[in-house]
Amino acid sequence: MGKNRHVLIQVLLNTLMISQIFRTSKGDVGSAAQYSPPYLPTNCYGAESSQFPTSNLFAAAGEGIWDNGASCGRQYQVRCISAARPGTCVPDMTILIKIVDYAGTLVSSPSSAGTTMILSQTAFGAIANSTAASINIEFQQ
Ligand SMILES: *[C@@H]1O[C@H](CO)[C@@H](O)[C@H](O)[C@H]1NC(C)=O
Repeated sequence: MGKNRHVLIQVLLNTLMISQIFRTSKGDVGSAAQYSPPYLPTNCYGAESSQFPTSNLFAAAGEGIWDNGASCGRQYQVRCISAARPGTCVPDMTILIKIVDYAGTLVSSPSSAGTTMILSQTAFGAIANSTAASINIEFQQ
């Protein structure tokens, strides 16, 4: 009896560890809002207009990933995984964004507060229906 329970616990722990490994390798889960121009100046690079990638795929870091400014210039792969309204996500679409700003000091207000990151209009529209205020994302640096 006691031994069986021990084995069961061991199996559960192993399953948890394995799913944790898969989770890390696939990135983290968070949320994203969007913001519109004006995008300048940014907290990371000021009024420098060459800071934006030519793709216009960029974002502002929310509290959780801002890292006291160390996130400036970091690149993340971002994918939309779900949203309040079904059908909002563009299926199987992953984009690469660059962090250029901080959510707390944006010039224009984000479509939703407290998200992991705030995507540029172009970035948001590439992975989701642009009428949505916020989406759930999977992201990986
Ligand atoms: C985007 O969402 C709006 C309403 O939320 C809907 O009317 C529109 O058809 C959607 N667009 C696409 C391309 O799915």
